[in-house]
Amino acid sequence: MSASNLSDRLRAAGQDHLVDHLASLGPAERTTLEEGLADLDLELVGELRTTIAAPAAEGERQFEPPEVFPLERDAEEEKRAALARERGAQALAAGRVGFCLVAGGQASRLGYDGPKGCFPIGPVSERTLFDFHAARIRAAARRHGFRPSWYVMTSPANDGPTRAFFAEHDHFGLAPDDVFFFAQEMLPALDLEGRILLSAADRPFLAPNGHGGTLDGLRRSGALDHARERGIEQLSYFQVDNPLAPPADPLFVGLHLAEGAQMSSKVVDKRGPGEKVGVLGSIDGVVGCIEYSDLSPELREARDAAGRLRFRAGNIAMHCIDVAFVERLTNGRLELPWHLARKRMQAFDPARGAEVEVDGVKFETFVFDALGAAERTLTLEVDRAVEFSPVKNREGDDSPASCQADLVALHRSWLASVGRDANGVCEIDPLAAESVDELRALPSDCFHASPAGLLVSRPADARS
Ligand code: UD1
Repeated sequence: MSASNLSDRLRAAGQDHLVDHLASLGPAERTTLEEGLADLDLELVGELRTTIAAPAAEGERQFEPPEVFPLERDAEEEKRAALARERGAQALAAGRVGFCLVAGGQASRLGYDGPKGCFPIGPVSERTLFDFHAARIRAAARRHGFRPSWYVMTSPANDGPTRAFFAEHDHFGLAPDDVFFFAQEMLPALDLEGRILLSAADRPFLAPNGHGGTLDGLRRSGALDHARERGIEQLSYFQVDNPLAPPADPLFVGLHLAEGAQMSSKVVDKRGPGEKVGVLGSIDGVVGCIEYSDLSPELREARDAAGRLRFRAGNIAMHCIDVAFVERLTNGRLELPWHLARKRMQAFDPARGAEVEVDGVKFETFVFDALGAAERTLTLEVDRAVEFSPVKNREGDDSPASCQADLVALHRSWLASVGRDANGVCEIDPLAAESVDELRALPSDCFHASPAGLLVSRPADARS
């Protein structure tokens, strides 16, 4: 693109300050910045500007608790669940389910320098989050007899280190061909007047576009075509921060298929009004999720007749998504609502030639907003102790310590069910057992006591 063409486009997008700034730079810096700006979707930037001053769309919306397939089931529901489990297992065995992990986040709350998936979390083994997810996918592939396809979303900031980590660890025992990486896109941060911020004299300030970018990224990267070629019809979506997430849950897949749903979700009972999870419900008659930061104090605290939180369907960010639905949504520009994060940011001020603190805005879309575009959805309530313990904060709730304590508590309860005493730290390799029944069937050479604790793993699964 010629420099004057770029200037015209910048002006049209309300970015005159960058035209002036470019003119003030030396040739090397100018070229670098021109290249960085030419990569941006300036028409989209023009659209994002208009959202900054727009009033928030909150307020008058009618929010109701969702219809949920419950954890405590009556006989009829149990029958439905048994049929669904069978159907889900068949879909898995036929290779019609692929896996989609979102790992593009910056792990800033955890304060971990590197892709969050590289964080060691195994209470005895110290295996990383990525290793946990890979082991669970391998275990499912073995149990149901399918070739796994794992789509891993990174961001430009952690894509290289993530791929390198997988390569260094032999893809955690998966075939490299079965792991498909793609990076989400970045969007420029704007100031409150809608001007693109800079992170350096020659670089726009870029931030990840949110996990709504998964849908777009799947298409752009060719992952959707790859999935189609492999006969995949559904994607099981989960987050890198939760080692308890079961990637291949026959019940969830089966219920989603039986419902004819385009996108389904799992929820847990919120721990209390203050828990930082989104809440699923019906928003003006359409299923959706209200993020914790957007839920009003009245709704957060509201109780039903039984004294339980009225809005307790906590979003654990596990979805089953129809591939055809993703194709439909991403045919043309993906239309998900923008979520604006207004923050103080360190940005380069061209007028002063130095970094300053400014009020800025980052723009994201959220994958759960796609629920509103689905004709049918299903919401499944699951047991938090078995499926949800994310690593988000350095300490306290949802920290490495709380996650390890939850893993140990779960595995200890399984060990107790098979008559094994495990008072100290313990951990069960997903490749050895993911249920009490599988644990019971293990020979005794799988139980390894060490000063770090009791590790249950099969010698045959050890990787060199
Ligand atoms: C998220 C959900 C919340 C849910 C909770 C459950 C949002 C906005 N909210 O909250 O409703 O109850 O998880 O644990 O997501 N990610 C990307 N790219 C991005 C941003 C995030 O890949 O641009 C990934 C992260 O790597 C992570 C996941 O998305 O795996 C969640 O992101 P995070 O910012 O940690 O969300 P939470 O605020 O914890």
